[in-house]
Amino acid sequence: MRITMIGSGYVGLVSGVCFADFGHDVICVDKDASKIEALRRGEIPIFEPGLEQLVADNVRAGRLSFATEVAESVAASDVVFIAVGTPSRRGDGHADLSYVYAAAREIAQHVNGFTVIVTKSTVPVGTGDEVERIVRETNPDADVAVVSNPEFLREGAAIEDFKRPDRIVIGLNDERARSVMTEVYRPLYLNQAPLLFTSRRTSELIKYAANAFLAMKITFINEMADLCEKVGANVQEVSRGIGLDGRIGSKFLHAGPGYGGSCFPKDTLALAKTAQDYDSPVRLIETTVSINDNRKRAMGRKVIAAMGGDIRGKAIAVLGLTFKPNTDDMRDSPAISIIQTLLDAGATVTGYDPEGMNNARQVIDHIAYAEDAYGAARDADAIVIVTEWNQFRALDFDRLRSIMKAPVLVDLRNIYRHDEVTKHGFAYTSVGRPS
Ligand code: UGA
Repeated sequence: MRITMIGSGYVGLVSGVCFADFGHDVICVDKDASKIEALRRGEIPIFEPGLEQLVADNVRAGRLSFATEVAESVAASDVVFIAVGTPSRRGDGHADLSYVYAAAREIAQHVNGFTVIVTKSTVPVGTGDEVERIVRETNPDADVAVVSNPEFLREGAAIEDFKRPDRIVIGLNDERARSVMTEVYRPLYLNQAPLLFTSRRTSELIKYAANAFLAMKITFINEMADLCEKVGANVQEVSRGIGLDGRIGSKFLHAGPGYGGSCFPKDTLALAKTAQDYDSPVRLIETTVSINDNRKRAMGRKVIAAMGGDIRGKAIAVLGLTFKPNTDDMRDSPAISIIQTLLDAGATVTGYDPEGMNNARQVIDHIAYAEDAYGAARDADAIVIVTEWNQFRALDFDRLRSIMKAPVLVDLRNIYRHDEVTKHGFAYTSVGRPS
């Protein structure tokens, strides 16, 4: 198949290179010329394990290339994916669809022969209808089928998730697209990954429902963690105890500082807005959104309490700034609100992150940055682990104790056992576990 991928961000680039790896001919397009030039030089704009090698392999094999203009590749393609951003619209929280619609208009001008246009961006219910309307209005002769095919990959595990998906969801209203999409996913289909064909609107909703459910699951366990602290129970054991019930499942039950990232915060909000528009409010999700927003600052207050309540003039080392490990993504990271709360209370903060330092510098001002965990901890009154990078799982506590002003560790990801830390003379606070 000849495939054009419009938008070479996270989803577009990973999907494009994986489709090339399946044996398709793929051109990844992006308006950002500097990004495309970098990709042509083999430089990957994001940190994602395995991506650089996979891009290099497929470029070398002649199956993957990059362009800034859509015209030529769209005309030659059987399938054109739209994988542009759908950020939260300023002011109202709806998904901003202007990039999706602009892509639809451009595609319409260049399609040639029967072409399947696939929306991979996360888009609200009804967007496929509007894409189709725009294409037909722009080019009444265009022979197209507009399909919804949401992506469920996670940052940091993107290639693995793409190549071993739990399911592939394909929403279409034009049966001609079914065989084309089956061909696009042929290697996965042969590997028995379930291909779920459904209507376009249903497919669009599945994506939001999945993210909203996961965000709700995390939020549920975070509230249980707070309750555990009050009643003297252990949230990790609660997670295990409920997760072994197959109806609940053990994943996404790690209590922590609240979910962040480019998807859950934006998608939960957009779903709540869509539901309100259709006069069918999703109150569980509305509540999830507000609990999670409040939680981030509450975690800042938790740190303050662990340090005795007054942190004016105290120095705090924050380890882990990205919204989760194995990414350099700072979008909606809990670290941002937590650090702001600490600064507001009069502390000074030194941050360190294995991959996120450049992006962190763009969004977090008024803190110092260190070269590693020990640099951040020097002369500090406390260490706060916000993101569970592997390198923070084996800290040298004796060394830390010798360089810190006070041995206090607040572990917002529960990566240590209580006794492992306290035996080195540290005061230890975690989330939802007895101290
Ligand atoms: C999420 C979904 O997991 C993907 O399936 C989806 O494709 C993606 O959004 C998207 O819509 O593009 P991602 O945002 O990369 O993926 O990251 P997750 O691993 O889901 O983590 C999201 C947030 O939840 C992180 O801040 C993480 O620390 C937090 N989390 C996750 C918890 O606090 N506890 C958990 O048990 C799991």
